[in-house]
Amino acid sequence: MEYRRFGKTGREVSAIGFGAWALGADWGTVDDADSLRALHAAADAGVTLYDTADVYGDGRSERIIGRFLRERRDPRIFVATKMGRRVPLDMANYTPESFRAWTDRSRENLGVDKLDLVQLHCLHPSIYYSPEHFAALDELVAAGSIANYGVSVEKVEEGLKAIEFPGVATVQIIFNMVRQRPAERFLAEAVSRDVGVLARVPLASGLLTGKMNRQTSFEATDHRNYNRHGEAFDVGETFSGVDFETGLAFVEEIRKLVPAGATMAQAALRWILMFEGVTAAIPGAKNPEQARANAAAADLPPFSPEVMSEIARLYADRIKPLVHQRW
Ligand SMILES: NC(=O)c1ccc[n+]([C@@H]2O[C@H](COP(=O)([O-])OP(=O)(O)OC[C@H]3O[C@@H](n4cnc5c(N)ncnc54)[C@H](OP(=O)(O)O)[C@@H]3O)[C@@H](O)[C@H]2O)c1
Repeated sequence: MEYRRFGKTGREVSAIGFGAWALGADWGTVDDADSLRALHAAADAGVTLYDTADVYGDGRSERIIGRFLRERRDPRIFVATKMGRRVPLDMANYTPESFRAWTDRSRENLGVDKLDLVQLHCLHPSIYYSPEHFAALDELVAAGSIANYGVSVEKVEEGLKAIEFPGVATVQIIFNMVRQRPAERFLAEAVSRDVGVLARVPLASGLLTGKMNRQTSFEATDHRNYNRHGEAFDVGETFSGVDFETGLAFVEEIRKLVPAGATMAQAALRWILMFEGVTAAIPGAKNPEQARANAAAADLPPFSPEVMSEIARLYADRIKPLVHQRW
């Protein structure tokens, strides 16, 4: 496992983290015992970074991680949670009192006195024009209930605006082979301000594992069924906003570039780690096998410049016109 400095948090975290959305809800049936085993398998493989949110299963994901923390008792483990999506996207809902209440609930769910990191969870974009809200987060740091704060954003522009606030330690953004725009400017800006970056949806919701085809179906409670056109939340969170069949055709081209001995999922994760500005990719995993396979991606050798150029070319030809300017 490779470890990288996580921006202004000053902590070192594993370059492959663990995305714990599915442990809560929205990804079909998931068994808590499998989830706990997946978390331990990741930790056994050297993963020290775990990403969750108060809204994932309305606290279920946080509570499973709380149990994992108690069973593990490892001071290297870093938990990034998020707040603000249990209420409608409305600036009126964001107050110093609500920030305090939400972080207190996450502390209780996780069983910790101080949160390692709380991220504003894709809140209303007006938040980036409101220094008072960031001052309220500074107060939570001063009070000792959170160690750091950051943001999770939908768009590159939101990330660029957020990092103008000096207290923003980290940004979480969609970055993967079918969402390459952050590499143009955002990652360099983050480096220059010492902001840690989490690359979320690194497998494009599983599309980049190469295991899907036109016949693949998903449970009714899986967002890959019910949010394909953005019916429930931002369409960019499901298959990174790429039309499923277009994505499948892209995957067949990428498949030819996967190095011997690696799976396509591992290659997709290793590609993300090629970018210096990324602290960690945070693939979701539902079971120990996925968690172990994902962690092993950090140990693959780097891609050659020729392969990197070819992946950039395939993106430019097949995907860029469809998604690039949208996020
Ligand atoms: N707004 C936000 O802040 C936000 C939004 C989205 C995600 N996130 C964070 O980012 C994390 C990752 O994103 P994501 O979960 O949306 O998508 P992802 O990591 O791109 O895809 C995860 C899915 O891919 C499949 N998979 C994972 N590893 C695999 C492997 N080794 N082999 C085969 N299949 C594998 C699993 O689903 P199946 O087995 O069912 O195919 C898994 O649930 C989330 O868990 C969450 O922590 C944050």
